[in-house]
Amino acid sequence: MQTSVSSELTLSGGDFKKFQAFLEDACGIVLGAGKEYLVTSRLSGLMRMYDINSVGELMIHLQTGRNPRLRTSIIDAMTTNETFWFRDAAHFRLLEDRVLPAFAATGKLRIRIWSAACSFGQEPYNLSMVIEDTKVRSPSGQIPRVEIIATDISTMALEEARKGVYSGMAASRGLDSGKRNRHFTVRGDGIEVKPEIKKRVSFRELNLTKGYELLGRFDVIFCRNVLIYFSGNQKQDILKRMARILNPGGYLFLGSTESLAGHTDQFEMVSESGGIGYRLKS
Ligand SMILES: C[S@@+](CC[C@H](N)C(=O)[O-])C[C@H]1O[C@@H](n2cnc3c(N)ncnc32)[C@H](O)[C@@H]1O
Repeated sequence: MQTSVSSELTLSGGDFKKFQAFLEDACGIVLGAGKEYLVTSRLSGLMRMYDINSVGELMIHLQTGRNPRLRTSIIDAMTTNETFWFRDAAHFRLLEDRVLPAFAATGKLRIRIWSAACSFGQEPYNLSMVIEDTKVRSPSGQIPRVEIIATDISTMALEEARKGVYSGMAASRGLDSGKRNRHFTVRGDGIEVKPEIKKRVSFRELNLTKGYELLGRFDVIFCRNVLIYFSGNQKQDILKRMARILNPGGYLFLGSTESLAGHTDQFEMVSESGGIGYRLKS
């Protein structure tokens, strides 16, 4: 059957199936039935640019590897990069009120945090702001040194994240004036994250469905609002591998609509300051 989904692009049932298989294999994203519109609406501009007339033709280009940048551009186009400042703010309160003090009490000198699907960078910069504010409030220097590794599969999102410059809605959504004044510099009609916040964060491209043992070990993992796009098996696999690289007693944070239920029993739920996190069982 041939579905006409946009005025310019038609997508046959067979090509949709091939594209579904490609996307799940490339980045774990499961496109459910009825999501043909997502393929045509997100890819039509790209296909025009590459002078490709149908998704079938696109699949042939991908198989032959004629244009290596095409694959990256498709992944950029098909990932949902929605994010904003202090999304699920209770997670950051839980980190500040319970997790950081608990680590500090053990005399730990260094903490590593992984923002595992960082999109345009708001999440890792939020983490860095929380650390900075905590440090300023405890001048006695009891806060361990914190390193934040931020990863994503989208090269386009990472490029923007590294700049740390935001304008329009991205500059205001979720950001209160206190944090804006403390942690940003005004740049034209936008704002830029200050160097002391940026310096704690390093960005890397990483596909969550592939191995990530090379990242080292972590004390805290923020993996929020990304597992929802994956199959049950893929979620289970990712959670198992995250548990493997978390230090004993480490914490995992998921998006507020996501849960571990039915996927793993390696964590215990921790609830404080209105937020829920998961602590690796010993
Ligand atoms: C909705 S955003 C979530 C951003 C942020 N964590 C938050 O909660 O606001 C989802 C991010 O997951 C990334 N993503 C999707 N599939 C991925 C994969 N296989 N590996 C790594 N990142 C992926 C997307 O590029 C996107 O930036």
